[in-house]
Amino acid sequence: MEYRTLGKTGLRVSEVGYGAAQIGNINMPEDRVEEVLNAVLDAGINFIDTAAMYGQSEARIGKYISRRRDEFIVATKCGDYVGETDGQYHIVRDYSLEGILRTIDQSRKKLDMDVIDIVQFHGLPDPEYDDEVAFEALLDARERGWTRFVGVSADGPAAAAAALRWPLDTQEFTYNILYQESADDLMPALKSQGMGTIIKRPISNAVWQQKERPEGDYMGGPWDRAQSIPLADLAGEMPILEFVLRFTLSHPDVCTAIIGSTNPEHVRANVGVSDGQSLPDDVVQGAKAAFREQFGG
Ligand SMILES: NC(=O)c1ccc[n+]([C@@H]2O[C@H](COP(=O)([O-])OP(=O)(O)OC[C@H]3O[C@@H](n4cnc5c(N)ncnc54)[C@H](OP(=O)(O)O)[C@@H]3O)[C@@H](O)[C@H]2O)c1
Repeated sequence: MEYRTLGKTGLRVSEVGYGAAQIGNINMPEDRVEEVLNAVLDAGINFIDTAAMYGQSEARIGKYISRRRDEFIVATKCGDYVGETDGQYHIVRDYSLEGILRTIDQSRKKLDMDVIDIVQFHGLPDPEYDDEVAFEALLDARERGWTRFVGVSADGPAAAAAALRWPLDTQEFTYNILYQESADDLMPALKSQGMGTIIKRPISNAVWQQKERPEGDYMGGPWDRAQSIPLADLAGEMPILEFVLRFTLSHPDVCTAIIGSTNPEHVRANVGVSDGQSLPDDVVQGAKAAFREQFGG
C-alpha cells in the first residue's frame, strides 16, 4: 500500500481508503460487517469515511474496530443524520448550531472515541440555515477538541468557494474517469489552500458492470456516462476496474480514494492496485481527451 499526505493535516493516509456507507445498511449481517472492517485494516487501509447519515455505520465502526483505534483515521460527517419516528427511519437535515454540535457529539459516542480525526459537512448548508453560524459551529467542534480537523463533502464551484472562505482542512468530492469536472472546478482551489482531498465514488460505483440502466440518478447518471466513454478500449489489456482506479489515483492532487465495499475480496483486490505503478502519461491523457470530447471542459 502506498501512503500520501492529506494536505495540511499532515496525516499519512493510504491512497486506497474505505467508504463505510454500505456497511451502514441495517440488513447487512453483523458478522459480515465485522469481517469487512477487519479486512480493511488487515489490508493496510488506514482511512475510513463514514457519516451520521449512514445508518449503522458509525456504531459498527465503534463496535468492531475501535479496539484497533491506533490503526486508522476516521472521517465522519454532520449536517444530516438518520432519525426514527414510530419505528420509521428518515433522514433529517440540520445545519443549526445546536444540530451540528449535537450530531458530532453523538458521532463521538457511536464511534466510541473522544476525539474524531475529521468531521465534514455532508454537503453545503441548506439555504434556510445561516452559513456563518453553521461553519462557526463546525470550527467550534475543532476548538473544543471533539475533532482534530474539519472539512466539507461537496462538489463543484460552490464547494470551491467554501474552501476559499473558511479555514478548512479537508474536502471530499467526486473524481473518477466518468466525472472529471472537479479537476478543473474544485481541485485548484483546494490546492491553493493546502487542503487534503478525499475522493468519493472513485470507481464510479463500477456501473459499467451493469447490463441494464440502474434506476435513479445516483447510479443511472454514471451508467449513462459509461455508455459514451470507451472504457474497455482505454483500459486495453488491464481489467476495467483496475484501470478506472489507477486513473483516479494518477491525479497528483488526490490524497485518498475511498472505495465502498461489502466484500472482503473486493477490498483486498482494490488494495492490490496500490503498487506504486502509475498509468503511463499518454494513457491518462487519452482518458482525459475521451472525457473532454463527450462532456467538454
Ligand atoms: N455526499 C457524500 O459525502 C458521499 C456521497 C457518495 C459516497 N460517499 C462516500 O464515498 C464512498 C465511496 O462511494 P460509493 O461507494 O458510492 O462508490 P464507489 O466506491 O465508486 O463504488 C462502490 C461500489 O463498487 C463495488 N466494488 C468495490 N470494489 C469492487 C471490486 N474490486 N470489484 C467489483 N466491485 C467493486 C462495491 O460493491 P461490493 O460491495 O460488491 O464490493 C460498491 O457497490 C462511500 O462508501 C461513502 O463513504 C460520500
